[in-house]
Amino acid sequence: MAETIGILTAGGDSPGLNAAIRAVGKAAQKTYGMHVIGFRDGFRGLMHDQSIRLDSQSLAGIITKGGTILGTSRDKVHKMPVGDGRKMDMRPLMKQVVERHGLTALVALGGGGTVKNAARLAEVGIPILVLPKTIDNDVCCTDTTFGFDTALSIATEAIDRLHSTAHSHHRIVVVETMGHRTGWLALGAGLAGGADVILIPEIPYQIEPVAEAILHRKASGSPFSIVAISEGAMTVEAAAEYRRLKTALSEAATPEDRQAAKTALAAFDEQQAVATRDLAKALEERTKLESRVTILGHVQRGGTPSAADRLLATRLGTACADYIAEGVRGVMIAARGEGTEPIPLEEVAGKRKTVPLDHAWISSARHIGLCLGD
Ligand code: F6P
Repeated sequence: MAETIGILTAGGDSPGLNAAIRAVGKAAQKTYGMHVIGFRDGFRGLMHDQSIRLDSQSLAGIITKGGTILGTSRDKVHKMPVGDGRKMDMRPLMKQVVERHGLTALVALGGGGTVKNAARLAEVGIPILVLPKTIDNDVCCTDTTFGFDTALSIATEAIDRLHSTAHSHHRIVVVETMGHRTGWLALGAGLAGGADVILIPEIPYQIEPVAEAILHRKASGSPFSIVAISEGAMTVEAAAEYRRLKTALSEAATPEDRQAAKTALAAFDEQQAVATRDLAKALEERTKLESRVTILGHVQRGGTPSAADRLLATRLGTACADYIAEGVRGVMIAARGEGTEPIPLEEVAGKRKTVPLDHAWISSARHIGLCLGD
């Protein structure tokens, strides 16, 4: 009897998801004669058994499409919302759904949160594999993730375009990229787009050196500047406060302490959400140049995937079908050089790939005199 496998997409959407669904599905069908089904809206669809058949017709023509044909959601499988504010561990129910369909493998396409969910599902015996996607490029143990290349191009093009308007008006343009708590997007796009200042979470910044760099440019005949900042970048003081709050949370001895630490972290995050605007204002005051803020936001995740992301998603997806046929489960399929490598989920779960301080992009930025805020 032919094997049946399931596919779902979870977490924030990312260009290349459909290319990956197509690659897993087509390779499983054409090379191994498997049946393929998809679950709608991530782990929520698995819980509610909302499945669709992914036959060759439904996989046709989707490689160019952005988003995910399956839909997605952000959930924790051991704390699923079940109405009236309650959250429950729905893993046993998800296991029943997997068994009811006779699935020999479930492929989850997602980022760090999905790896954690997958590790939890593997604990209850669900035969799961993960393909790493996210525009943030922050998944540990893989060279890269699909979605990043597309987002990098979009952010770079935005910085290119902001140059001419900043130049014409003699302004500071502060452009904020996504990236969650890592600086891959801001650093890559800032460097490729010729930004003058790049601020990333890995290097807490001070306002003074940034203002000085802008004043120096003004004095040497360039009265405009582009500041690329990652949404997670923090001042030195904010970074110290963040570390303090995280420690308080991890060391909370009672449920009350834990709740208090969570509330404090939420308030901190709320304040951080306007940090880019605060920075622009502070730079305006110090340099006497007008400033404008551009938040790139979800435009970085939308639209058609780049060729590089389609190729990466196709490489990971087809390799995934091979690993399934070989009986490999409980892994994330990492991109390694030109190939792939299955990494046990427990080695990946809970880790984040930040930009190493000795990364080539950082040293190149310093070599060409960019200000990194330190
Ligand atoms: O993790 C991907 C990401 O795009 C981050 O860069 C960003 O912080 C977050 O998702 C935004 O999430 P949402 O789609 O829930 O607004």
